[in-house]
Amino acid sequence: MTEEEFLRIYRFLKNRYGIDMERKKEIMQGRLEHYIRTNGFQTYSEYMNAVESDFTGHLERELVNILTTNHTFFMREFEHFDYLRQVVLPELRMKEVDKKDLCIWCGAASTGQEPYMLAMLLKDYFGLEHGMWDTKVLATDVSTAALKQAIAGVYEKEQIDTLPEQWKRRFLRSIDNGSRYEVIAEIKNEVLFRQFNLMDIFPFKRKMHIIFLRNVMIYFDKKTKEELIQKVYDVMEPGGYLFIGRTETIDRTSIPFQLIQPSIFRK
Ligand SMILES: C[S@@+](CC[C@H](N)C(=O)[O-])C[C@H]1O[C@@H](n2cnc3c(N)ncnc32)[C@H](O)[C@@H]1O
Repeated sequence: MTEEEFLRIYRFLKNRYGIDMERKKEIMQGRLEHYIRTNGFQTYSEYMNAVESDFTGHLERELVNILTTNHTFFMREFEHFDYLRQVVLPELRMKEVDKKDLCIWCGAASTGQEPYMLAMLLKDYFGLEHGMWDTKVLATDVSTAALKQAIAGVYEKEQIDTLPEQWKRRFLRSIDNGSRYEVIAEIKNEVLFRQFNLMDIFPFKRKMHIIFLRNVMIYFDKKTKEELIQKVYDVMEPGGYLFIGRTETIDRTSIPFQLIQPSIFRK
């Protein structure tokens, strides 16, 4: 990959998806090399010409699938789920007691573990009352490959190890002689998966009570993060909560949210 080819792919990804791979040439090349070779492209330039002239969008989707990092796992940063159970949900249960309708959005859902955990927590928290509430989780990601896995809701045994026993028994069923587990339909039905690029205009008609945007802004530069946070603020219900990754940094002085904890914000 020449420097020029690298810059072309780098700019394409940054302009359209916010993803900044400036110092990640080796990673980019490592991820694309096999694809280029097996799909008969002679050079990265030839490949990018094909991506940019493919009006079906198929090649671009594949590029995004290859270059995004979809690492996630059940129980990641569980402190957020504790905070939801102890503070946010009791507050929203009182506030929305008449409508019984909560809008929850997980904006970088990857392979589904995070939104499924939200659905499990909501089911658990509302208990017998759950049927009276609408607490569906909207789960979006830009990677169609990650979303495909998320929709299938099938995980290797090792991937569910971190989940509490009680949740495993209640919300998963073993398949393939116990080597894999599938999220039960009752939980799958509580999550709506859609492809969505966070750089696009937000199309949401209703305001959100809870937004999870964890471990995605690490790939964006400062300006992109600030613009995104402003859009998130605009679609947030007053009193709503935003959760970001616990190791992520955003400049608190430049954002409109009230800081609750380093990774929890309130409108
Ligand atoms: C490291 S994963 C984080 C998954 C999960 N939120 C977590 O914390 O475990 C980052 C996800 O962000 C997605 N992503 C990256 N850029 C995006 C964009 N512009 N719009 C939507 N999703 C994006 C990637 O496809 C990937 O699945």
